[in-house]
Amino acid sequence: MPPTHPTEVTLDVHLGPDELMAGMRHDALHGLGSRPRELPPTWFYDNVGCRLFDAITELEEYYPTRAERSILIDYGDQIAKASQADTFIELGSGTSDKTRHLLDAMLQLGQLERYVPFDVAEPTLRQAADQLVGEYPGLTVHGVVGDFRHHLHLLPAGGRRMLAVLGGTIGNLPPEDRAVMLATLSAQMAPGDTLLIGTDLVKDPARLVLAYDDHAGVTAAFNRNVLVRLNRELGANFDLARFEHVALFDPDNEWIEMRLRSVGDQQVSVGDLGLTIDLLDGETIRTEISAKFRPEGWQAESEAAGLELVSQWFDPAGDFCLSLSAKPGV
Ligand SMILES: C[S@@+](CC[C@H](N)C(=O)[O-])C[C@H]1O[C@@H](n2cnc3c(N)ncnc32)[C@H](O)[C@@H]1O
Repeated sequence: MPPTHPTEVTLDVHLGPDELMAGMRHDALHGLGSRPRELPPTWFYDNVGCRLFDAITELEEYYPTRAERSILIDYGDQIAKASQADTFIELGSGTSDKTRHLLDAMLQLGQLERYVPFDVAEPTLRQAADQLVGEYPGLTVHGVVGDFRHHLHLLPAGGRRMLAVLGGTIGNLPPEDRAVMLATLSAQMAPGDTLLIGTDLVKDPARLVLAYDDHAGVTAAFNRNVLVRLNRELGANFDLARFEHVALFDPDNEWIEMRLRSVGDQQVSVGDLGLTIDLLDGETIRTEISAKFRPEGWQAESEAAGLELVSQWFDPAGDFCLSLSAKPGV
């Protein structure tokens, strides 16, 4: 038998170092320069942030990853059959760790030809893609480095596609941005293409808060990492000891918010932006929302974007939901 050589990874980079810095500068200037202060969660994910997120997924308190993994294990074959996809595009793919259950099921069905991991974190994406070509000889792995808030028009075309956003990442977008993202995806889907979305479900607020405020302080370190990054990459002078990690549930919006709360009045400057901000004692910077969904609510959102619900799958505890919707017309 001749040795099997893993296929090469193709990588499209729409977010090189210059674009990445420009994006971070834009978001920091707008988000920190006005009240209420805010930074998008996109900037958590440098190498340290990606490692911290991985550590979060292992925490006892953080049930969503385990719940979604169990759905992928139990129903991966049904998802594969329902999608009939030969191309699987995953937005915010990270390490693609639990995605492997779905790749296995899709390959088992015999139709999958191409996997397209898409992420803002280039080193993590490269590493994941390199590992995947080794693990799945014959599967084309076409990575895309991009920001799904800006680069959805650059997704690889062709084939029967299943697009996916797993891990509850869709809930990190405010509702209006989520609607834009859904409409943008729907507009470029061909009849028969499908969209698989992982959503964390509304549940006991105490459990939700604990998932974002673990005892070991891993999520707190993840949250503060955005300040570490602004210090290093934008010449800011945040004193980490003077920012407390806050996780709270907003019952009106049914979302978790992560914030960083100023301990005492303080002035912070972001050198590369020529920006100086005065933070009052107790004032917060919102760093993430994580919306919690109801199955029928997600159905309504996807239908508003012109997609038809095919099926929804749940873990045994009913904590998490995977919804598959299709572009009608076949
Ligand atoms: C919550 S993690 C989920 C990772 C993985 N999908 C999972 O389920 O474990 C969010 C992922 O989305 C990526 N991400 C965050 N904002 C992004 C953006 N604007 N564009 C592309 N990727 C983004 C992060 O780098 C990270 O890998």
